[in-house]
Amino acid sequence: MLPIAVLVSGSGSNLQALIDSARRDPDFGAKIVVVISDRREVRALERAEAAGVPTVIVEWEGDRTRFTAAVCDAAETFGAEAMVLAGFMRILGPEAIARFPNRILNTHPSLLPAFPGAHAVEQALARGVAVTGVTVHFVDELVDHGPIIDQVPVRVEPGDTVEVLHERIKAAEHRLYPTVVKDFALGRIDVIDGKAAKR
Ligand code: GRF
Repeated sequence: MLPIAVLVSGSGSNLQALIDSARRDPDFGAKIVVVISDRREVRALERAEAAGVPTVIVEWEGDRTRFTAAVCDAAETFGAEAMVLAGFMRILGPEAIARFPNRILNTHPSLLPAFPGAHAVEQALARGVAVTGVTVHFVDELVDHGPIIDQVPVRVEPGDTVEVLHERIKAAEHRLYPTVVKDFALGRIDVIDGKAAKR
């Protein structure tokens, strides 16, 4: 069983999808040993507590090096061997990639490399794309950039607002992310020449 830390900042619906999958699927392969949040009093922390998962808050104090070290230390204190970012809105510094090489996953609400950054859904809508989606990727030193593990498309419908479109994207994330985390936990994903490949 791969011990993982899940990193959150907000509502934690992706965390919930992971908790539910771990609970439902005896072959999930990963155990959430800690949930780390950079914010207090977010719904994600309530979800972790309800599931009996320990929580740690590492507040951002303006220094990326110290913040990154504190997050990695918290994960390792609980025995985590990988970090799974689930709506985590901070950028980790290079120390995290050095300490968890090809062992940090992220879900992003667009079809990367389109629309990286914190406003992916707004930008997809503003650009008028017909299809956007979800990308799950390994985290590297650049923002929303590391090797892509899997993607699913989500259609933009007439009249979509940012909120409506994001909810549709999140529903796709809730299906995709647990399957990727499971494959990763079971050792089915390799990185070869900077690209992720499923065995
Ligand atoms: C997700 O769409 C994630 O991709 C993005 O922020 C959202 C977080 O949602 N970075 P939640 O906290 O998992 O509900």
